[in-house]
Amino acid sequence: MLKFLSLLLFITPLYAQRVATPEEVKGWNISIKTNGEGLPIGKGTAKLGEPIYIEKCAACHGEFGESAGRWPMLSGGKGTLNSHDPVKTVGSYWPYASTLIDYIYRAMPFGNAQSLTPDELYSISAYILSLDDIVKEDFVLDQNSFKTIKMPNEKGFFLDDREKSEKHFWQKTRCMKDCIKGKAEITGRAKAIDVTPEAK
Ligand code: HEC
Repeated sequence: MLKFLSLLLFITPLYAQRVATPEEVKGWNISIKTNGEGLPIGKGTAKLGEPIYIEKCAACHGEFGESAGRWPMLSGGKGTLNSHDPVKTVGSYWPYASTLIDYIYRAMPFGNAQSLTPDELYSISAYILSLDDIVKEDFVLDQNSFKTIKMPNEKGFFLDDREKSEKHFWQKTRCMKDCIKGKAEITGRAKAIDVTPEAK
């Protein structure tokens, strides 16, 4: 038994150190950048995507992306971002269509990730975008036409400017006591898990 274990300890590090082959790296490296770099080759329309979406996605996300039960909503929520209860969906919130394609490609359908062909991926993505009228139902989505898509909330995102905009808060020594000047007010709540303390 001991002999067997020491043999195993000897073999394992050698085995684990093998350099990944280019094919293996390619299999993992499926990131799609915001500018569309890395998009797979394929195409699809919302019309073609609807039946595939109904079969593979609707059980959780609802037929029109409205959500079935407590799964995430994928559509709707337009105009709610500044409200007390913002509804963040692909249509109302996401800044780039490439993020949608990347997300679905790597992670969905939940429990059977990376099972979609590129054509199914484009068709389903087009279907989801059509739910919020971002593309028409016969718009052919592919690695080039994707660049013509403008997401409604793209302008809602900007580069982190805290080095400038919050500079006046910064100080050399850390404050540990009575740090809030003026009156502190609760302006929003994490309602799902109710972590916000009650106002006194
Ligand atoms: C078994 C239920 C289930 C199925 C089926 C499913 N999803 Fe999801 N989906 C989820 C869950 C759960 C999340 C949230 C995952 C997380 O936040 O880690 C999610 C998240 C998403 C999101 C991101 C939503 C957001 O705003 O964060 C998208 C887009 C999405 N799914 C698309 C799809 C598509 C397209 C399909 C079909 C190919 C699909 N899903 C099938 C459960 C499912």
